[in-house]
Amino acid sequence: MITSKIIAAGKAVPAKIVTNDDLSRLVDTSDEWIKSRTGIEERRISQNETTTDLAYEASKAAFDKYKIDPATIDLIIVATISPDNFMPSTASLLQERLGLNNRHVMAFDINAACTGLVYGIQIAHKFIQTGSAKRALVVGSETLSRTLNWEDRSTCVIFGDGAGAVVLEASDRGIIADYTNSLGDPDLNLAIPALPLKSPFADEMTCSPSCMTMNGAEIFKFASFAVKDAIVHVLEKSGLTMDDIKFIVPHQANMRIVSKISKVMHIPVEKFYVNIKNYGNTSSASIGIALDELLDSGQVHPGDKLILVGFGGGLTWGAILVEF
Ligand code: UT7
Repeated sequence: MITSKIIAAGKAVPAKIVTNDDLSRLVDTSDEWIKSRTGIEERRISQNETTTDLAYEASKAAFDKYKIDPATIDLIIVATISPDNFMPSTASLLQERLGLNNRHVMAFDINAACTGLVYGIQIAHKFIQTGSAKRALVVGSETLSRTLNWEDRSTCVIFGDGAGAVVLEASDRGIIADYTNSLGDPDLNLAIPALPLKSPFADEMTCSPSCMTMNGAEIFKFASFAVKDAIVHVLEKSGLTMDDIKFIVPHQANMRIVSKISKVMHIPVEKFYVNIKNYGNTSSASIGIALDELLDSGQVHPGDKLILVGFGGGLTWGAILVEF
């Protein structure tokens, strides 16, 4: 049966490293609090890199490392909650930067918050399976730093900027199971407001603040359910067990979420690839950045099976079980 295989991965992060100590000079926090509550030690924050720049650099890194000609790409999906423009899409800008503007390429953005890369891979997989695309570039790219309230210690210490890219193509082995889900969240536990209604015809509206807001405790609870639910579903769909899985690459949100899942599901914590200490939570970019580093580490061999699992605003969640 035709499936799709991940044939390349790449990442890009801004040059500027911001440590926990740097943040303790901005808000009432400490290296000890951030490290012990989240596992984060530092994150990259953009000084001038845009979401499109990072998406381009991550894509180029994947193409160069795995010797892929960008001209062979016929589908570009960018997952982002911090695009440079509402229009054109980041994917269209990326298409132009990659020199693909006169090619037959479908390019669009998706927003599934921190589950964006998982949603994007699932969508690309379906296009490939149906023959609508041959080679797809899926990128999660964020400059969340511009959405943060830098006076709010409960959010500004958590997030970072970066991009992770993967390339998929048709193959007889690769994605074995995929699962995504979404739960409308009436309480907006994780939100970044967009432009307020403003026109001569609008009812009076108070301008909403444009920064990210998060109910950390509720999201923690949701994550504990969602990661388990997604892993259980892809294992069930594939007929495999956790013993068949070499690594789990989770959305890098909080080391305590990983420890909790490891304990509740009796999965050795070493099975989770975690790099949150270096980058913080980069939303849709985090799984791609982690996957790229894991592949670079030489620990994944042909035939190894991985689970990529994400959760985030929406509320959204999902997983991909893929053989390398
Ligand atoms: O991509 C998905 C996005 N989000 C997530 O995955 C977030 C999931 N949630 C979490 O990771 C955790 O809930 C947080 C890391 C956000 C917060 O950790 P927590 O253990 O749930 O802390 P808390 O919100 O219950 O706050 C405990 C205390 C509070 O003080 P009081 O009321 O006990 O005096 C907070 O005001 O810690 C305080 N606090 C801080 N203290 C120092 C909150 N943020 C900070 C901070 N530095 N940065």
